[in-house]
Amino acid sequence: MDAKVPNARYSIDDRIGVLEELLNERYSARAFLPREVDRATIEHVLTIAQRTASWCNSQPWQVIIASGEAKERFRKEIYAEASNGLGDDYDFTPPREYVGVYLDRRRESGFQLYNTLGIARGDKAAYAKQALENYNFFGAPHVAIIHTNEPLGIYGAIDCGAYVSNFMLAAQALGLGTIPQAALARHSGLIRRHFNLPDDRRVVCGISFGYADNAHKVNSYRTSRASVAETVTFVDV
Ligand SMILES: Cc1cc2nc3c(=O)[nH]c(=O)nc-3n(C[C@H](O)[C@H](O)[C@H](O)COP(=O)(O)O)c2cc1C
Repeated sequence: MDAKVPNARYSIDDRIGVLEELLNERYSARAFLPREVDRATIEHVLTIAQRTASWCNSQPWQVIIASGEAKERFRKEIYAEASNGLGDDYDFTPPREYVGVYLDRRRESGFQLYNTLGIARGDKAAYAKQALENYNFFGAPHVAIIHTNEPLGIYGAIDCGAYVSNFMLAAQALGLGTIPQAALARHSGLIRRHFNLPDDRRVVCGISFGYADNAHKVNSYRTSRASVAETVTFVDV
């Protein structure tokens, strides 16, 4: 029989196997079916994500989930602002520059996306058109906005990042597709006004979600990861 962790329902092999499968399977979906996710399934995802760890257990994440007409009103407003070239209204400073290996990885994932869509290298107009799809939520029927409490600063945002990961994994386990979107945070002021957020809330990112359109080519590629050897330094003596 497989080894068990005390009081655990599943064997160690099952536990790590499922976690690994979910992490390996998950990818950022950029095309969705119009089918809505029922409220019980969404609440299941949210209940699991609530277990996220946070500094001092402050649990700074607050989440708006827009669906149906409300999602459509929000989509029209943010799409209009983005397509008019407005934005750069982040609550948190975005990356200043991608250099070295970070630039390499950014390029690799960008070219994977563009190659899959048949967009030629350097076709800036096509890049911009694809980027605008962020503001259609890639056709997802639901969009979540994750926001934190301003006095908690960057660590509040880190806690929200952990929440986003757990949300995505729980959604994956329930057969849903997700995409985290910092592109939405580029319009933090609009989001605060649109959803009447108090002044002390700061937008971290969005997550568009629903059932991924597995037949769409944009969902057909998978990004790479650096090895543990490239990432971790063991210090023993
Ligand atoms: C915090 C965060 C913000 C992101 N913002 C966007 C975004 O605005 N638009 C987008 O298309 N992808 C966005 N992504 C998705 C990343 O590009 C993606 O996670 C990365 O390329 C790895 O690919 P994978 O998620 O398919 O494994 C974001 C991911 C994270 C974690």
